[in-house]
Amino acid sequence: MPVSEDLKVFTGNAHPQLAKDICSHLNIALGACDVFKFSNDNTFVRILENVRERDVYLVQSCAVPVNDSIMELLIMIDAAKRASAGRITAVIPYYGYGRSDKKDQPRVPITARLLANLIETAGANRVMTIDLHAGQIQGFFNIPVDELTAVSMLARHFQGKGLNENVVVVATDAGDAKRARSTANILKAPLAIVEKVRTRNNMEQIESSNLIGDVNGKTALIVDDEIGTGGTVIATAETLMRHGVKDIYCYVTHPVLSGRATEVLDDGSVKEIVVTDTLPVPSDRMGTNISAISVASILGEAIGRIHSGESVGAMFNDVH
Ligand code: R5P
Repeated sequence: MPVSEDLKVFTGNAHPQLAKDICSHLNIALGACDVFKFSNDNTFVRILENVRERDVYLVQSCAVPVNDSIMELLIMIDAAKRASAGRITAVIPYYGYGRSDKKDQPRVPITARLLANLIETAGANRVMTIDLHAGQIQGFFNIPVDELTAVSMLARHFQGKGLNENVVVVATDAGDAKRARSTANILKAPLAIVEKVRTRNNMEQIESSNLIGDVNGKTALIVDDEIGTGGTVIATAETLMRHGVKDIYCYVTHPVLSGRATEVLDDGSVKEIVVTDTLPVPSDRMGTNISAISVASILGEAIGRIHSGESVGAMFNDVH
């Protein structure tokens, strides 16, 4: 189906501010769309402008309440499809259920795959996201997935603050070593890995952590894809302090910040935690040592490039 020159961006209720900021970057108005719940808890969507043959981008992060955010996205895709949109891209800055990406215990689901199936079945033609929990989630889709990354932006943020000297980049587990390696390459710093062992069945209790690499006397930059309860970052910081690290900084792409995370992270062990705005965080949950930088320009540029058929990979030439 031909896609017209017209580019349209709509948002659900998950993170309207990010959608507005993306539109500012693209210099277009945010599309008009009603997305609300009836008194019977059923979600309703109506796109309030013509999208026939248009290149449509639906911005919806998997923000709390996660299942409502997902349902809104699916219904928005359906509405756009039935309104004869030329191409529909689901822009999901934070892809929820990403940690449920394998059958690592008997009789558990692979919910990240189920979500991919739902998005495709609803009618999305493409997906755009940032820093998936595991890159392999791309393969759960049979449609193109553009996985963007905030690694370069976050690493350069610390570089800009002079965090170059005597720094060691630290992965919070072996599965996250690639992201940390990319950061280490940008900062021209060595890499260390903390081996994380989760023992409780709810997977939110971290039992022990061992260290691979030399960190003694260095400044550590902990790198992760998301902060949930804050347990991983704090356990990693404790391990690093036991091994003689001087100062600890941290960046993560997705500020899930569930439960008591803000208080847990404010225990004085980590000097500064930088996150992005892939998820909305109310100011009272940011904590004294947490700050956010925006991914709107990354998403806006990628949308512009996809719309005009330019390379998206070229945006990330410095991430290896
Ligand atoms: C898990 O493997 C992820 O990379 C993060 O380390 C995890 O989601 C952080 O969760 P929490 O803050 O609850 O320890």
